[in-house]
This record gives sequence, structure tokens and C-alpha cells, in this order.
Amino acid sequence: MATQVDVFSTAHAFSEDELKGKVVVVVDVLRAGSTITTALVNGARGVIPVADMGEASKIAGNLDSSNYLLCGEHNGHRIDGYKLGNSPLEYQRESVEDKTIILKTTNGTGAIRRSHLAKKVIVATFLNLGRVIEELEEAETEVLLVCAGTRNRLAIEDILCAGAIVYGLTGGQLDGHETDGAKVAYSLYEKFGDNIYDVLKHSNHGEWLINEFGDVDISFCSKLNQMPVLPVWKEGVIRLVDGSK
Ligand code: MLT
Repeated sequence: MATQVDVFSTAHAFSEDELKGKVVVVVDVLRAGSTITTALVNGARGVIPVADMGEASKIAGNLDSSNYLLCGEHNGHRIDGYKLGNSPLEYQRESVEDKTIILKTTNGTGAIRRSHLAKKVIVATFLNLGRVIEELEEAETEVLLVCAGTRNRLAIEDILCAGAIVYGLTGGQLDGHETDGAKVAYSLYEKFGDNIYDVLKHSNHGEWLINEFGDVDISFCSKLNQMPVLPVWKEGVIRLVDGSK
């Protein structure tokens, strides 16, 4: 592995200062990361991750109403009055093309916001895993994988995805000098990487989603490398970087 990689198990497992100057990868498989990636692939102009609904309204107030969509969830369900919730399947081209998405989610958008001191913030999911690994292979500073988690607790699907990144960066071979976080995530992926769908389905948040909405989002979010793109958060907006489509 060319550079040191560490893994934070939740978005509250670090102080914001620790990310200063680092390359940060925010992982929220179910579902914010997958939703952001899908929206951008389907032509959204950009995604603005917000901390709360008050901030969403404030940003919306400064934009032309034909240019943005207020989107997001509270406790997993679409916020009343918002256009879209947090299922990636809602973010079809006909809804999002050329729109700026103002997105509020319970954990994912907060994890991105907590990474504001980083040198670069990338959004990773299983959907764009290969493209993220390719980018990190070129990283010149320490890479920190921030797993968003669920309600301040670890979410196995995020650690699994972080493990897939470590696995990719090491070529499937640990040399023993990696950080503990990288070793744990790697080991999880080594054991369960062939069964991503099953891990998501039986995860705490996955079981909740299936109970509420069926398994459509789990099935969608567990697919590997369907979207070879690199979403990067810069100056408040997540966009695909040039050449990532
Ligand atoms: C979040 O950011 O908390 C999640 O994406 C929740 C969800 O599945 O909607």
C-alpha cells in the first residue's frame, strides 16, 4: 500500500482536526453515499449536503426554485414537503437532471460535513468502489476512511466497503504494518466480500430498510462498480470530477 490508510468506524470516532490536510473518503452505503453517487450519474448538477432542515431552507432561499430540489430523510422517511427521500432509486434522470440537490440525511450528510478540514473529500460506495481505489492509489498523504455508521453506531455495511477499499489498495495482501482500523476492515471484507448483498440484508440498518421498503435499495446498493465515477465535495458542493464518467 503506497500510503497509510486508517478507518474510523463512525462519523463521531474522530475530532474534526484529525482530518486536517488528509484525503478523506466518506463511506455511507445505506444509503446517502449511494444516493449521492446515483444522483450525479443521472445528471444532477451537484449535491449540497446539509446538516439540518434549517440550513436546507436557507440555501434553497438563495437559489432559483426551478434549479434545485430539496431532498432527504428523517428517520429514514422522506421529509414532509421535500421532493425526494433517500432511496437512490428515486434519483432518476427525469427527476434530477440539471438540478442541484440539497440533501439532508441522518448520518451521511453529517459525516461529509464533519470532514470539512480535509484536503479532499471523496464519497465512496460499492457502486463506485473501483474508481475510488484508482484515485487513492495516487494519494500522497494519509487516507482516512470515515464510515458514516447509523445513529452514532458502527454500521457493518460501511466497514465492509472500507475493507473493500483497503483490500483493493493492498492487492489483497496485508504486510502487517497497516493500522488496526485497516486490518479490521480488511479482515471483514476478506471473510464476507463474496456476499455483499447478504451482509447488507442482515445488517441492522438493512433489516430496518427491508421492513419499511422491501429489499430494493439493498439490492441496488450492493452492486459492485456499476458507476465508475468520483464524487468529490468541494466548496460545499459534491460534483463528479472531470474524467470520472
Ligand atoms: C443516513 O445518512 O443516515 C442514511 O443514508 C439513512 C437512510 O438510509 O436513509
